[in-house]
Amino acid sequence: MEQQPKKRIYSAIQPSGMLTLGNYLGALRNWVAMQDEYECIYTVADLHAITVRQEPAKLRKQILETYALLMAVGIDPEKSLLFIQSHVAAHSQLAWILSCYTQFGELSRMTQFKDKSAKHADNINAGLFSYPALMAADILLYQADMVPVGADQKQHLEITRDVANRMNNIYPNVFTVPEPYIPKIGARVMSLQEPTQKMSKSDPNVNAWVAILDKPDDIMRKFKRAVTDSEACVRYAEGKDGINNLMDIFSAVTGKTYAEIEKEFDGKGYGDFKMAVGEAVVDTLKPVQDRFNELMSNRDVLETTWRNSAQQAEAIARRTLGKVMKKIGFIY
Ligand code: TRP
Repeated sequence: MEQQPKKRIYSAIQPSGMLTLGNYLGALRNWVAMQDEYECIYTVADLHAITVRQEPAKLRKQILETYALLMAVGIDPEKSLLFIQSHVAAHSQLAWILSCYTQFGELSRMTQFKDKSAKHADNINAGLFSYPALMAADILLYQADMVPVGADQKQHLEITRDVANRMNNIYPNVFTVPEPYIPKIGARVMSLQEPTQKMSKSDPNVNAWVAILDKPDDIMRKFKRAVTDSEACVRYAEGKDGINNLMDIFSAVTGKTYAEIEKEFDGKGYGDFKMAVGEAVVDTLKPVQDRFNELMSNRDVLETTWRNSAQQAEAIARRTLGKVMKKIGFIY
């Protein structure tokens, strides 16, 4: 039987520094898992990062660290493409074109734009507004079949699909219309201090979130201080948000089911449980941290890797860009 070509996955992450345990368990572990079944293309979305003001030296460091961290968690550039968005000029080029096929009205409805313009009222720039056109360009350039996205990016994927369909109606078959990819595994990690809210690195309370690169002592401290409830019984139940979150995390890093966890901690207090979760997280992150440190001391390897990947990405991206430009009527 003839082998079906692998489906293509595209995803990207902003180099906003300090990726969290939530990013790892919720998204990045899936990125790693998908590499065998799919043809994966992953990007550090540095162009997206400048929709808010960035300090040059800090941005440069964060791009480098994010790239190294993606390799450290297990993205393998032998299997997947892993590059930096700004290294492939076609992203910016297609973004301009797509922005001419994206309506003011639909961009105005984006909740992320509304949130961010409320938060950065002194810098509501055109890039912040047309951000979804750049994201659509990222995805459509590679004719991706599927895009794994969290809840916060769903609306942006919807607009990508709308723009792709719109372009296909004018210029038949120009783009593959991407589907959302709902991962089989993937924990939704909540704040350790306010477990009804998603874990976020922008939380001013540092005890609320764990960074992938946190030191073991800090990780243990954060879990010891995690908010629980007064029942003192490790079981998964409605209203026990803190314990549910810790059970989710423990389950995600050990592979144990809720039932197994409940049995293991039957008759034990929350103190023991929190220690166990903390230790399991430390053990999971340790190899990632070691690999990260090794990569960071080998800048040459990183550079060769991203240059190589960008070259391969460029070949695909230029094909799409050429096709789009020809169809529109540019002399290409
Ligand atoms: N906007 C996404 C975020 O902030 C990152 C991103 C950029 C992305 N381009 C993308 C995600 C394309 C998926 C597909 O999380």
